[in-house]
Amino acid sequence: AAKAAVPTATPQVVTYAHRGSSGSVPENTLAAVDFAIAQHTDFVETDVRRTKDGQLIIMHDDQLGRTTNVEDVFPDRAPYWVHDFTLAEIKQLDAGSWFSPQFAGEKVPTFDEFVDRIGHRAGLLLEIKGALLYPGIEQDVVDDFKSRPGYLNWALSAHKLIVQSFWVPSSRAIHQLLPDVPVGILYDVKPTDADLVEASTWADHINPGNGFTDQKLIDRVHELGMQVAPYSLDTGQSMQKFLAMGVDGIITANPGMLHDIETIG
Ligand code: G3P
Ligand code: CA
Repeated sequence: AAKAAVPTATPQVVTYAHRGSSGSVPENTLAAVDFAIAQHTDFVETDVRRTKDGQLIIMHDDQLGRTTNVEDVFPDRAPYWVHDFTLAEIKQLDAGSWFSPQFAGEKVPTFDEFVDRIGHRAGLLLEIKGALLYPGIEQDVVDDFKSRPGYLNWALSAHKLIVQSFWVPSSRAIHQLLPDVPVGILYDVKPTDADLVEASTWADHINPGNGFTDQKLIDRVHELGMQVAPYSLDTGQSMQKFLAMGVDGIITANPGMLHDIETIG
């Protein structure tokens, strides 16, 4: 299939709020969406997984322990795989207290609740997690997008949706199912040139870990007609460094910091 159209270069770097404004608010909660938007983010980055009863939820880890009180609520259910719990069970959990008592009562959002909360206020950079744990999750995500009246039309015309994964087959599956939706590949080790050349035949975004992202990689991604946004740049110094290198976007837990750099300098 043909590649999706890549939006033309924006005058400013694109801000992707990593798991929402996860530097200030518990990650991947509705509060993290609201704060990211209050901090002028362009996109909210998040992670989708699937429950035991087939519901799509927002959760970074494959287990529930780090970001909820699941050990208190279900003491006998370790190691707390997301796919061993129903949505009704997950909805009993507190996803805010681990971060700060101020956020007690935050819930694990469903995918629908999360997309609804963003609304038309920002874009969605959706990461598909754990494709091997949840076979067919790509189709589930596509079905969900299609079930939302007007969503894909709006998101595509406004350039407000990108789907990405570390798992190349997941990104490619989304591209095959929805050829007009821009897709990205995440790398936690440096991609080879052959990786980039192959990706450039169908992908639009390369989002690499910042530790190995250098000028050569950034220039090569551009040469191949793709955009690059390193993750996760959470200090002003690291943002300045990569802005000077000409990245198209920055994935950050602190979108307000990036906004200040862009507007105040
Ligand atoms: O979008 C970049 C980033 O989310 C990838 O790493 O582990 O936070 O999902 P991770
Ligand atoms: Ca992610």
